[in-house]
Amino acid sequence: MTTAPWPDVDASFADRLAARTPTPFRHGLAGDERLSLEAIALLGDELGPDAISAEKAAKPLVSDDAGATSALQVEKVSDQIRGLAANDSWFTLLNIERAPAYAELVDQMIDGIARGAGVDPRTMKRRMGFVFASSPGSVTAAHFDIEHSFLLQLEGHRTLGFGRFPSAEDREREVHRYWNGSFGRLDSMPEQTTELAIGPGDGAYIPPYTPHWLSNGDSTSLSLTVTFFDRSNADESMVQAFNEKLRRAGVHPRTYGDAPGRDRAKVAFMRVYGGVKRRFRPETSASH
Ligand SMILES: [Fe+2]
Repeated sequence: MTTAPWPDVDASFADRLAARTPTPFRHGLAGDERLSLEAIALLGDELGPDAISAEKAAKPLVSDDAGATSALQVEKVSDQIRGLAANDSWFTLLNIERAPAYAELVDQMIDGIARGAGVDPRTMKRRMGFVFASSPGSVTAAHFDIEHSFLLQLEGHRTLGFGRFPSAEDREREVHRYWNGSFGRLDSMPEQTTELAIGPGDGAYIPPYTPHWLSNGDSTSLSLTVTFFDRSNADESMVQAFNEKLRRAGVHPRTYGDAPGRDRAKVAFMRVYGGVKRRFRPETSASH
């Protein structure tokens, strides 16, 4: 029985984190009053319209328009969240850590993961939290994120599919699209590697650059995702951002990982000159 609210991971998880291996876990956050439907509705109003991403519930698993055709008008988000059982909607509350009580919650989750895995919590940086609230039958289109993500299912049942890029070229092409506004949404369905059925108290580690997608069951789904960067994905994303600068200057850069010496130089440059700007949407595109 899991009583701690954070993901229940042990020392064996440190290797899975380092290897970016999808991993299911249990957690004790379901039923927490900070994340009831009503608390989430009120948090939506508190964070304001800029922090809400809204879409229609049903949509294809792949789309090449970054979700534009699925966009939904936000009126009064608290009422729309309260009405999720019947209004065919899908909401993300972005960067809930901007509300102090939820910054504390995000830290509690990530520090709990670090402790369980025996990893120094100070290596888990740029911590963010997202709440996903969606109607029965909702679909989260296939995409990847650049963060380490931990999905904690709170209410309702969903299936979480994981896939892989068919080739290194395909991964590179999708990474390029990511840095040019795709939000990580894939334009073709990846080959499935595994599928998890998740309900309240279940969760999963979703590694960076790993295709995944979700389908709700026949009830409203509420979930929390917490994310962070460690050295591995921070360096990779910095090199990718640098490479995009080179491409715009007409240079064809070496892919991250192909030339470690150059990667180190690029990371050093980006650390000094500001590197990955905190662009609001791309850094907050997690869509689990
Ligand atoms: Fe995601």
